[in-house]
Amino acid sequence: MISFKLWYIVILVILFINTDRFIKINAEAKNSGFIQRELNLDSSDKLKNIFVGSIVGGISHLNPMLEISKILKDRGHNVTLVAPGNFTAKSTLYHSIPQIIIGEPPNPHDSMFKKIIFNKYTFKVLAGIIEAVVAEKYTKHFNDYLQAYKEIKADLFFCDYLGNWACFDLAWKLNKPVVVFVNTLSFLDYNFLPPFISDPLMDCRVNMENESLYNRFMCAIVQRLRVTWLLRNSFNTLNYKSAEIGVSKYGDIKERLANTLILVDSFIGFEVSFAWPPLLQEIGPILPDIFPNLTSDLELFLSTHPRVMYISLGTSVYLTQENTAILLQSAIELINQNILDGVIWATARFNESELPSTVTLSNGDVIPILNLLNNLYPHFHITKFAPQFAILSHENTKVYLGQGGVGSSHESMYTATPMLVLPVAYDQLANAEKLELTGMALKLSKIDLKVDDIKSKVIRLMNEESFKMNAKRMQVLAKFNSKRKYRGADLIEMLMNLAKCEGVMNEDNELEIDNRVLLRHWITPDSRMGFIRGKYLDVFGVAVIISIALVSCLGYVFYKTIKFVYKKLLPRDENMRKSPLKRKNE
Ligand SMILES: *[C@@H]1O[C@H](CO)[C@@H](O)[C@H](O)[C@H]1NC(C)=O
Ligand SMILES: *[C@@H]1O[C@H](CO)[C@@H](O)[C@H](O)[C@H]1NC(C)=O
Ligand SMILES: *[C@@H]1O[C@H](CO)[C@@H](O)[C@H](O)[C@H]1NC(C)=O
Ligand SMILES: *[C@@H]1O[C@H](CO)[C@@H](O)[C@H](O)[C@H]1NC(C)=O
Ligand SMILES: *[C@@H]1O[C@H](CO)[C@@H](O)[C@H](O)[C@H]1NC(C)=O
Repeated sequence: MISFKLWYIVILVILFINTDRFIKINAEAKNSGFIQRELNLDSSDKLKNIFVGSIVGGISHLNPMLEISKILKDRGHNVTLVAPGNFTAKSTLYHSIPQIIIGEPPNPHDSMFKKIIFNKYTFKVLAGIIEAVVAEKYTKHFNDYLQAYKEIKADLFFCDYLGNWACFDLAWKLNKPVVVFVNTLSFLDYNFLPPFISDPLMDCRVNMENESLYNRFMCAIVQRLRVTWLLRNSFNTLNYKSAEIGVSKYGDIKERLANTLILVDSFIGFEVSFAWPPLLQEIGPILPDIFPNLTSDLELFLSTHPRVMYISLGTSVYLTQENTAILLQSAIELINQNILDGVIWATARFNESELPSTVTLSNGDVIPILNLLNNLYPHFHITKFAPQFAILSHENTKVYLGQGGVGSSHESMYTATPMLVLPVAYDQLANAEKLELTGMALKLSKIDLKVDDIKSKVIRLMNEESFKMNAKRMQVLAKFNSKRKYRGADLIEMLMNLAKCEGVMNEDNELEIDNRVLLRHWITPDSRMGFIRGKYLDVFGVAVIISIALVSCLGYVFYKTIKFVYKKLLPRDENMRKSPLKRKNE
């Protein structure tokens, strides 16, 4: 053992000496027989058309995909967004990316979304959305995408994961390479995740590490079966409709996804850690390189208020009147108690008619909401436009009260701002738990929101050093990992070049590939080996049988030995014990 370690050290030392020498040689010998290695695959490679598809639209949802699209565009590809709403034309950062508009984006003030936002959000509710928005509209989405494809003549599909089966099915149908993008692991089908990762939507925790056997059984088996049951109609509809379109010959949707490269805008540390399958690639957090500066108003407010809480619930969710009043009351009372000295409230797409008209404080004071909205309250700054990243980056922003969307969570980690999370719907509940597990955040409950709870949690976030320390730790992870958007673009280019190697020309002179085998090098062999061989149950079974046999043999030999020894020693005793009887008989 010792000699092995010694050898190891000797080899390491030799290696180090050698690399050191090599670097020196390399520097000295620039002009003596060395040639630059070719970094790019083939500079004569002609440009490619990339189809970026989403049925969701919306700023915070599409930004990360467009950030990668921008990198691909800078590398010379033609990228076109196909999504609802007039988005890129109105966006400052992404107006260079043309968009084909397919319908209106979902309106968060629609009655269906109102119900989601005002009530408890569970998997049952989500299953309802999937059925109404995705399964029922599958054929429409498919045809919209097909129309757009004909305009773009895409060589590769880059599909948003969320409810977007039509996008990857079109790619499979057309035999084009496809890369899927997902904003967080919580959106993914649980088939991708190990049993110790679950979700609050199923009344479970994101990390089941310390849960009882009962809870782990419920979450790993019962709730997963329940989810399958709740989604049965949607999947039946989807499978039926995709069979009509003719993609069912490639297996069902789950099998198709299992052969597709999925880029995840997230990182371990924020996500609960587990060994990722090779086709799931971490590339987040994706953030733009530039961000809007503070307005002079905000700059003045922040620089004159050293203890500011920033409140923003993003653009896709909002609160009930009662909860808004509770939030404002807590904020005002925290200022009155001199815990905070300023509050910035960003009301991006706020509907003023849905606000409470007054806020009543615990001491009986009544504050008309109009006074707040007109910024008559000197410690309150209410704004429609919030340069969020700049606000979070400011050293005087001490706490961020947000809804816990993925983008906002990434920004708060990147800027090391402790968070008070008030999740409303979607992945926000899971994100809130993940943020709390990092130790940089606390969470609130929208169905049981209390002034005292908010106040005590803000006080903890301001006073306990651990929140800031953990936020700084997350900042390190977020900063280093934020460079991986280029890796995301690399992976997409890699797939396009793989397709070029494997593709065959069809009669329309278009390159076609087989998505079932394009990524075969990334498929772990166990998935081809079947359940028993793949999990090595046969081998372990044999090992167990051999162990049992060995133990039994040993046991038998031991038993025989003992018996033998016992017999050898026993006769004298037996004679002695038997002797009185014998004597009697005699
Ligand atoms: C990319 O877009 C430009 C402008 O729309 C077009 O002229 C060019 O042909 C496109 N490239 C490819 C490879 O289709
Ligand atoms: C999208 O918005 C841009 C900029 O506001 C405008 O010029 C364009 O006409 C809009 N397109 C559609 C289809 O509404
Ligand atoms: C579970 O308990 C262990 C030991 O107390 C602790 O280190 C770990 O962080 C806990 N995990 C979770 C998810 O709470
Ligand atoms: C940002 O804005 C503030 C005030 O509005 C200004 O003082 C500052 O110089 C700006 N920063 C940059 C980098 O432009
Ligand atoms: C604001 O709320 C009112 C009343 O609920 C509604 O009629 C109106 O359409 C809403 N406005 C927006 C922009 O959603």
